[in-house]
Amino acid sequence: MADLNPAKLTIDGQDYELPVLKPTAGPNVLDIRKLYGQADVFTYDPGFTSTASCDSTITYIDGDKGELWYRGYPIEQLAEKSHYLEVCYLLLHGELPSKEQMVDFENRITRHTMVHEQMHYFFRGFRRDSHPMATMVGVVGAMSAFYHDSTDISDEWQREVAAMRLIAKLPTIAAMAYKYSIGQPFVYPRNDLDYAANFLHMCFAVPAEDYVVKPELARAMDRIFTLHADHEQNASTSTVRLAGSSGANPFACIAAGIACLWGPAHGGANQACLEMLKEIGTVDRIPEYIAKAKDKNDPFRLMGFGHRVYKNFDPRAKVMKESADEVLDLLGIENNETLKVAKELERIALEDEYFVSKKLYPNVDFYSGIILSAMGFPTSMFTPIFAMSRTVGWISQWKEMIGDPQNKIGRPRQLYVGSDRRDYVDVSSR
Ligand code: SDX
Repeated sequence: MADLNPAKLTIDGQDYELPVLKPTAGPNVLDIRKLYGQADVFTYDPGFTSTASCDSTITYIDGDKGELWYRGYPIEQLAEKSHYLEVCYLLLHGELPSKEQMVDFENRITRHTMVHEQMHYFFRGFRRDSHPMATMVGVVGAMSAFYHDSTDISDEWQREVAAMRLIAKLPTIAAMAYKYSIGQPFVYPRNDLDYAANFLHMCFAVPAEDYVVKPELARAMDRIFTLHADHEQNASTSTVRLAGSSGANPFACIAAGIACLWGPAHGGANQACLEMLKEIGTVDRIPEYIAKAKDKNDPFRLMGFGHRVYKNFDPRAKVMKESADEVLDLLGIENNETLKVAKELERIALEDEYFVSKKLYPNVDFYSGIILSAMGFPTSMFTPIFAMSRTVGWISQWKEMIGDPQNKIGRPRQLYVGSDRRDYVDVSSR
């Protein structure tokens, strides 16, 4: 990182110089690592709206332009020209694979898709009506009890094996969570199917008859995986990094990421968004919900709208919107009332001063639920699909951090506004 002219800071008449770091792209960065030691002050940034927690080479977002790059490649090009496992290789290793590298990578992933047979019993400890995200948090965390031969984070080979196991097994675990929730038998992965087709087969096949995956649906599923693969230092990725900074094993770190993603302000928004669209029901009820979203006294927010970083269209939402039209057309679903409500809601919101002034646009979660619902998934499976897609991003960011010799435990400080020091008062005197 090239240094620029230092920033000058004066505190209580004392001048300090802070290095300014120049990134490949994006805002310059004020390096405050020595500030507390020099000036005995903390910086204060709840929600980290102005804070770079790390340096990274993986993903870049320009919120004003609505741009997203994986290792420098724009998401629109990857969604159109690449496929998810190639994107996994790119995120993990930093470059697009040669033909031979891709064949080897795909073979290794394909042969790690099965889970330890004992895991089937682990699922049985859950209630049938458990939310699949609850099951996934538990089962992924338990992977360290089954695959402890890839938990030594100081061993680069074990880090690589853990990454491959997670990318390969998350679809199997997500499909098992779904099957368990609907009382159907687990369907084993098949090595003759590609990654997305395999997932759809594990979700929708039943032993009683053959299930053939439509190639166009597998392609749409694969594209959804790519669009969700990584997204810089979002809440769940930051959770994975913070968990990993203590030296926790990779499976525990990914389970922490899944838990964080579940929140409706984050990955849980795709489920919340479709439930909101269905609650609105018809186009004529949209103004009522727009008013609720604008009402400061009403906690209601338009799910699938707004973003901490994007103050323009989320590029993923644009691709997802096009894909929604294709999938519904492919499935012969005409006049989908939910899609009509979504498109009209988007149109109205983008003309409304409140949303325009606050730069609130549809995000990745706005259209994804419409596609997943049309494919046959219940809303409870939307966030598990987000979680399995994001696993490669989480583990790539984790590997980047663990592989950095400068890596240290993340330990933020605080602005303490509690009681000043005081002595204990015996209960007889209270
Ligand atoms: C994801 O970080 C990532 O990269 C996440 C993600 C990824 O790939 O990892 O992109 C995935 O999480 C996408 C976001 C999914 N969440 C939702 O769709 C839930 C609905 N959106 C909001 O909750 C909200 O927009 C957030 C949480 C996404 C962003 O919140 P911020 O950045 O903290 O913004 P804010 O809450 O400070 O909002 C700024 C203003 C506020 O009004 P004022 O206090 O300034 O008057 O905009 C308003 C908010 O009230 N606002 C909304 C709104 N989102 C923000 N008002 C109505 N509806 C909304 N959706």
